[in-house]
Amino acid sequence: MTAKAVTTTSLKKMKADGKKITMLTAYDYPSAKLADQAGIDVILVGDSLGMVVLGYDTTIPVTVADMVYHTRAVTRAVNHALVVTDLPFLSYHGTWQETLKNAGEIIQKGNAKAVKLEGGREVAETVKRLTQAGIPVMGHIGLTPQSVNQLGGFRVQGKTKEAARALIEDAKILEEAGCFALVLECIPAPLAKLITEKIEIPTIGIGAGVDCDGQVLVFHDMLGYGGEHYPKFVKKYAEIGITIEQAIRTYIDEVKTAAFPQEEHSYGIDADLLSGLYGEGERR
Ligand code: KIV
Repeated sequence: MTAKAVTTTSLKKMKADGKKITMLTAYDYPSAKLADQAGIDVILVGDSLGMVVLGYDTTIPVTVADMVYHTRAVTRAVNHALVVTDLPFLSYHGTWQETLKNAGEIIQKGNAKAVKLEGGREVAETVKRLTQAGIPVMGHIGLTPQSVNQLGGFRVQGKTKEAARALIEDAKILEEAGCFALVLECIPAPLAKLITEKIEIPTIGIGAGVDCDGQVLVFHDMLGYGGEHYPKFVKKYAEIGITIEQAIRTYIDEVKTAAFPQEEHSYGIDADLLSGLYGEGERR
């Protein structure tokens, strides 16, 4: 029996019922299928794909076309989780028509159920208009990687009184504007707790402590897949990068020494048929 699909409404109910929300990024069919089968509540097709899949230093080069392409692969795999896709850098800062077109492509072509965008009060009007157009929006405040050049690096946010107050106000403004949930990235745990208590929509933390209504991690980070440096807030639940590299080394070794393939990996043919392939005197 398939579990009931997660919706924006069911996430709000989870907060009201005190049930923690689980969110994980995924960028392709097999990773999304595994996360969905495991029972994750929300799959985020994050623009972090620029860094963990495409090899960029930041999320800034990621395009709407990239997001649609990866979202299509993810949504083909998912039966249960709510699929949310990031609006990438500058895709919601032009005219309203451009923003609507970009968000519309992610929903219509990608088949995502909601979009996520970064920023506080400065994106509130955009959140309002997208929500009014029928596109659910997840907010994202604190460390907002699309503004890394403005923030001066990937660092903890909200550490001064003014900055902490601004984040609390932003959270309330985004709730008021219509966000159904809010990612809190890299802010002190007690501040995330306070924000979580002050708004009714769920908060999903990453580097924001245990008192958020849910947690999100990047697929490749939590599995130790392909990265070199991991932020302090990452817990690695596996080391699949080591497992994969070891398997490839063994494969190379076995091919070089003719230990692979063996008979069990090969197809046979009737010996008479083979010897009778060429007639007497015929060139081989
Ligand atoms: O792009 C992403 O993966 C994200 C999460 C880290 C929240 O925005």
